[in-house]
Parts: sequence; structure tokens; C-alpha cells
Amino acid sequence: MDGFVLTACQRKGGVGRSTLLYNVAGSMAKRGLRVLLVDLDPQASITQICLSPESTDSLPVARSIVSLISDDYFGTVQSLAQPTGIPGVDLVPGSNALARFNFPEPEKTGPLQDTLRDALVDARRHYDAILCDTPPSLETLAWLPAVAADVAITPTPPEALAVQELVHAARFLERVRWSKNPRLVWAGVVLTMYQPRLSIHEAFTKSMRDAYGDLVLSNAIPYNVAFKECVVARQPLAFWKPKSAAAKAIDAVSGEILDRVAKLRGRGQEAA
Ligand SMILES: Nc1ncnc2c1ncn2[C@@H]1O[C@H](COP(=O)(O)OP(=O)(O)OP(=O)(O)O)[C@@H](O)[C@H]1O
Ligand SMILES: [Mg+2]
Repeated sequence: MDGFVLTACQRKGGVGRSTLLYNVAGSMAKRGLRVLLVDLDPQASITQICLSPESTDSLPVARSIVSLISDDYFGTVQSLAQPTGIPGVDLVPGSNALARFNFPEPEKTGPLQDTLRDALVDARRHYDAILCDTPPSLETLAWLPAVAADVAITPTPPEALAVQELVHAARFLERVRWSKNPRLVWAGVVLTMYQPRLSIHEAFTKSMRDAYGDLVLSNAIPYNVAFKECVVARQPLAFWKPKSAAAKAIDAVSGEILDRVAKLRGRGQEAA
């Protein structure tokens, strides 16, 4: 079966999205899946973790994801994907040069909108899971992977400014479905940086579960210093500290995402 494409959709910055996707990639690879990380963030956070900040800075634009979406360069996923050092995980690197593609009205960008989706058609045959990291915006660099994706997830700490963004995530995904990708499913809100001892976190978690029900994954990512340390170690927790509580939390979230994807695909096959 072809692999699935997942994108992150959350306008609030610093919600733990890159840390989450990097570690979910590790957890999925540990389960034996072939994983491709696709970095659409001009900050290139995941690329810096995987390849080092120096290698990211010196990477020619032509060898980055820009070659998949720009008329100025030509590249395929096969020609651009690099090994990450994590067994089973490859990366299409991001680049600071992505910034000039983040147009505020994605619907008006014409053929650019289809570039990533078209580039990933072949990659779906080589990878089981294709995970797209996005910048903290709901503009073109979030639109391209949403047009290409089967599912979207929204990493959200249980705090006011991030929770208030859920309504914008919902509207954005509806716009994508309506104009480009009717099959796109919002597969879940992932609670990140959760601190159960904070009463405000408990209160926001409850209000999110009341408002969004099962859309909120039952497993949460706790606030844990291991998530900061693994970025410095440049290894996902599944490989670096597989027995830690943080690694177990990531594994539970990855399992829940994979279950949701499998259910959606089962439903799709029944309907066909
Ligand atoms: N579960 C966690 N526990 C503790 N710290 C975390 C956790 N997740 C992320 N962080 C820290 O929070 C900060 C932001 O994380 P990260 O860069 O992954 O967020 P982001 O949503 O990708 O940010 P941006 O919007 O800039 O892309 C980093 O310093 C990271 O180490
Ligand atoms: Mg990020």
C-alpha cells in the first residue's frame, strides 16, 4: 500500500511541532516504517536537527525542498532526500530561501499549489509515512503540504493563545478541502508540553476535550527536558532514550496517529 502524507497545521509558534514530528519520525521508524521528513519551514528546524546547523546553512538552495516547488530549479524527492543518521528516516531539507514562497493568499498562487502534491506521488511508493513540518503560519508553506496530505494534526499546548488557534486551523483545513483536496482529514489535536500539575493546563485540556471531543488524542506529550536534550544529541528519543517516559509518550502518540490513519484508510476502501 502507498504511504500516507501527514502535515502539521497550527498558526501559533513554538508549540513543539518540530520536536514532535522529529520524534514521531523516530518512533515510526523504530516500528519498521520507512519515514520521510519534509521540511517546509524557512527556519529549517528539523533540517538543523538532522543535518546540523552548519550543514543546513551551507546547503545549496538547489539541494533543498525549494527545488520541488520553484521553477528556478529542478529536483525530485529521490534526488533531494538525504539520510538523517536515524535508521529508516530520510529528509527533504528545508532552506531559509523558502521564505519567499510564503504568499499570504495561497489560493491565488496558481500551479505552485500542486507542486508538492505532484512531487510526493512517487515518494508514496518508497515511504510508509511522509511527515511535513510547517512554519507557524497558515499561508502558502502550510497550504502546499495540506494540498498533498491525507491527514493533518494540530500540535497544541493547553494554553489560551494556542487553543484559540484551533478555530483557525479548522477554517484553514476547510478552505483546503473546498478548493484543492476534498480527501484531507483533520486526524487530531495533539496536546504538547502538557504539565498536569498546572491547574491552567488541566482547565484548558478539559475545555479542549469538551469542545473538540475525540479529535483531541487521548495521549498527550508531557513537558519534559528530554525533548530539549534529544535535539542537542540530534537523536530522536525512540533511539536515544527509548525507555524514558518522554519516549513512551511519543510512542503512544505515534501509535494513536497510525491507528487513526489505518481507520481512515479502511473507511476509504469500504466506500470505494
Ligand atoms: N514536550 C516538550 N517538553 C519540553 N520542551 C519542549 C517540548 N516540546 C518542545 N519543547 C521546546 O519548546 C521549544 C519550541 O519547540 P519547537 O521548535 O519544536 O516548536 P515549533 O512549534 O516547531 O516552533 P516554530 O513555531 O518556531 O516552528 C524548543 O525550545 C523545544 O525544545
Ligand atoms: Mg518548528
